[in-house]
Amino acid sequence: MKKIIIDADPGIDDSIAIMLASMAKEYKILGISLVSGNVDVNKGYINVCRLSKFLGRGFDIHLGKINPLKKELINAEDTHGTDGLGETFLDYEKKNYAEDAEDFLIREAKKGGLTIFALGPLTNIARALEKDKEAFKDTRIIVMGGNYKSYGNMSPVSEFNFYVDPDAADYVIKNANIEIIPLDVTRKFVLTPNILSYIKRLNKNRGDFLEKITNFYMDFHWEYEKIIGSVINDPLVVLAELREDLFTKNSYHASVITDGDARGMLMVDGMDFLKQDKNIILYEDLKILEVWTEFIEIFTGEKVDKEILEILI
Ligand code: RIB
Ligand code: CA
Repeated sequence: MKKIIIDADPGIDDSIAIMLASMAKEYKILGISLVSGNVDVNKGYINVCRLSKFLGRGFDIHLGKINPLKKELINAEDTHGTDGLGETFLDYEKKNYAEDAEDFLIREAKKGGLTIFALGPLTNIARALEKDKEAFKDTRIIVMGGNYKSYGNMSPVSEFNFYVDPDAADYVIKNANIEIIPLDVTRKFVLTPNILSYIKRLNKNRGDFLEKITNFYMDFHWEYEKIIGSVINDPLVVLAELREDLFTKNSYHASVITDGDARGMLMVDGMDFLKQDKNIILYEDLKILEVWTEFIEIFTGEKVDKEILEILI
């Protein structure tokens, strides 16, 4: 089993990623560290409790500090709902938690062999690196964030996770070897009504839950991006780790703009103008049929009929 920590701001697509990682047999989830982003860490904690109830399993929960390194706290409740789970306000039982995300990350990284799925702003990871950079020397960090040639979703040039805490994103990129899955790739992974319908046919209980928490998200995508469906960014981090053969990635030098009009922009030196070290691995494409096949088979526990799926995507 691969040891993973999920650092997240659940959030609808974070929640789907947490469910997917829980259903995949390859992972030992050491814990979930919560970061403020879509919703603050306190609402994120409640959503992990809600996922525990649906999944019938517990998680070791660690809250990070509520605010970004330097910037004012903002949220994406317009996209994810005021509860962070699509205005569903699902029942839950309160679970134990600790308020030590950065120390938890350090503690587990020191043991070696850790992979971190970073699904929200990089605040916790930056604080952990500031405290003990050496601890993460052999930790794999796969980040959903940023955008390269695709437009931003928080400003013309920046993606939400990197916009919320650009100082953390820039610090992590400069102090750890990370892999980034940007909007360029995640915008290709759209949960459409047809795919959702197929998931419900294969596993009604899980499909109904997925539909319940994505209805609000679907409305947002139609209103703001005229998409019939919803871009589910974060599960691609799990799928990229499980099946990196289905993804194309390249190394580049990059940094994050921390202030001004371009706040949060991932500046990728695609033409190597700066002649600097290549400090990120950037995912640039994916084999969409195979990736959806992997997602649906893990999420439903059923085999996918490729001929049916080909018609749906
Ligand atoms: O920009 C998309 C990212 O920001 C996703 O991780 C979403 O959950 C939000 O955190
Ligand atoms: Ca997220």
